[in-house]
Amino acid sequence: MTTEPHSAAAAEGEVPGDDPSGPIPLRLLPDTARVSGHGHLHIGGCDLVDLAAEFGTPLFVYDEAHLRAGCRKAVGAFDGGAAYAAKAFLCAAMARLAISEGMDIDVASGGELQTVLRALGDDDAAADGDVAQRVVLHGNNKSVAELTMAREAGVGRIVVDSFAELDRLDELHRADGAVPRVLLRVTPGVRAETHEYISTGQADSKFGFGIGQGVAIAAVERAAAMSSIELVGIHCHIGSQVFRVESLAKALDVVAEFAAPLFGEAGPAAGRLEELSIGGGLGVAYVESEQAPTITEWGDVLSSRWAALARQHGLGARLVAEPGRAIAAAAAVTLYTAGSIKEVPGVRTYVAVDGGYGDNPRPMLYGSDYTAFMPARAGEPRPDRVRLVGKHCESGDVIVRSAPMPAGLAPGDLVATPVTGAYGYSMGAPYNRIGRPAVVFVGGGDARLVIRRETVDDMLALDVR
Ligand SMILES: Cc1ncc(COP(=O)(O)O)c(C=O)c1O
Repeated sequence: MTTEPHSAAAAEGEVPGDDPSGPIPLRLLPDTARVSGHGHLHIGGCDLVDLAAEFGTPLFVYDEAHLRAGCRKAVGAFDGGAAYAAKAFLCAAMARLAISEGMDIDVASGGELQTVLRALGDDDAAADGDVAQRVVLHGNNKSVAELTMAREAGVGRIVVDSFAELDRLDELHRADGAVPRVLLRVTPGVRAETHEYISTGQADSKFGFGIGQGVAIAAVERAAAMSSIELVGIHCHIGSQVFRVESLAKALDVVAEFAAPLFGEAGPAAGRLEELSIGGGLGVAYVESEQAPTITEWGDVLSSRWAALARQHGLGARLVAEPGRAIAAAAAVTLYTAGSIKEVPGVRTYVAVDGGYGDNPRPMLYGSDYTAFMPARAGEPRPDRVRLVGKHCESGDVIVRSAPMPAGLAPGDLVATPVTGAYGYSMGAPYNRIGRPAVVFVGGGDARLVIRRETVDDMLALDVR
C-alpha cells in the first residue's frame, strides 16, 4: 500500500499524542472498549464483528455506558446542571437516556422538540416529571409553528435570537396568554479557534444579539419591559469543537461585564439573571495527534471563573451548559465493509466502503480528520496508509484522508472509524438514495437497535406518483 504523510500536526511533531502507526489507542474508543484475546474489538461486551454480521453495515455502535457517564459528568460539572445538545445525535432512545441521567435537552427545531416530547410521554419512567419543562428551545429563525408548539407543550426555556422573535412572542401572547421563560442569546465578539462554519461567537454572525454593537443592551431593555415573556437569563455559545477552555472563559468575562449594569440592582433587568448558559463547544480528540480537555476539566474552569465573576459583579446567576459533541462523539464507532480497493501507483491506495458522506459529512463540510482501524485486528499496528472513501458520487466523499491500517486489508474486511457519535448520523443525508445506517446501543453484552436502517421503501414513501 502507498504511504502518505500522517496528519500535519503529527508529521511536524508539534502535538504530543499516540503513534498513528500503532494499534488504535483506547482513548479514542468508547469507555468500555476492550481488545479480546483474538484481537477483536468489543464494546459494551459485544464483539464488533458479530454486530456487523447481525445488523449489517454501515452501522453506528454507541456505548451506552459511555453516553451515561458523559451525561453524569456534565450535570455534575455545572451548578445549574446541563442540557444535552440534541443536534449532536438524537433519537428516541438518546432523548430518554439523557433525561434519565438528569440532563435537560436543548433542541433547535420543531422536529427535535417533537422527538423529545414523543419519546418521553407523561407515563415514561425516565422522565420523572414534566419533560417539556426540561427542554430548551433554540433556533435563529424559529417559525410561528415551532414557537406555538413550544408554548403549548410548556417548554422550560426559549432562547431568543432576534428582535423579530420578540415580536412573534408578543403576538402569540396576545392569542394564547402564555408567558414563556426566556434567555437572550448574545454574541460576545469572542472568536473560537475552530472552523469558521462552527464559530458563532464573533460579531459577524447570524446568531444572537451583538454585545459589541450595543444591540444586546437594547434587547435586554426591551425584553425586561415585556409582559409577554419572563426574562430569566442570558445565553452565549461561541462555537463548537473548541479545544481552549480559556476561549470559553473569556466569553464569560465579556458576558459578566455586559450583564452587570443591566441585571444589577439599579439596572433595567434587575434580579432577572437567574441563569447564564455558556452553550456547548467543548472539543474532542478525533485523531491520534489530538488531546482535548475532559468534561470535568471544562466544567471546573468555567464554574470557578463564573463564581469569581459573579462575586465581583454581584450577579447571582447559576451557570449551565449545553454539551453535545463531548457527550456523544467518542461514544460511537461506525462500522463499514470494505469493497473496491484501487491502487494509484506511486500516489495512494483508495479503499471504498459501503457508506461515506451520507453518514459522516464532516470531512466534506469542514475538512475534518478521522482515523480508522480494523475491528477484527484491533490490537495490531497500522503501518499502511490508505484513503478511506465512500460510495457517493462525489470526489470529495472522503471519510479519512490518510487512514492507518494493518497490512493486507482486503475487500470484504470490516473497517471502523472511531469518534463518530456526534454530527454524523444527525447531519447525514440519503444522497444517491443510499439509506442512512442503522444505530445500535450496546451494553452488558447486549445490543439493541435504536434506529433501523433507512430503506428505499422509506424514501419512496415520500414520492407522490
Ligand atoms: C446553541 C448551541 N448550544 C450547544 C451546542 C452544542 O455544541 P457542541 O456539540 O460543540 O457541544 C451548539 C452547537 O452548535 C449550539 O449551537
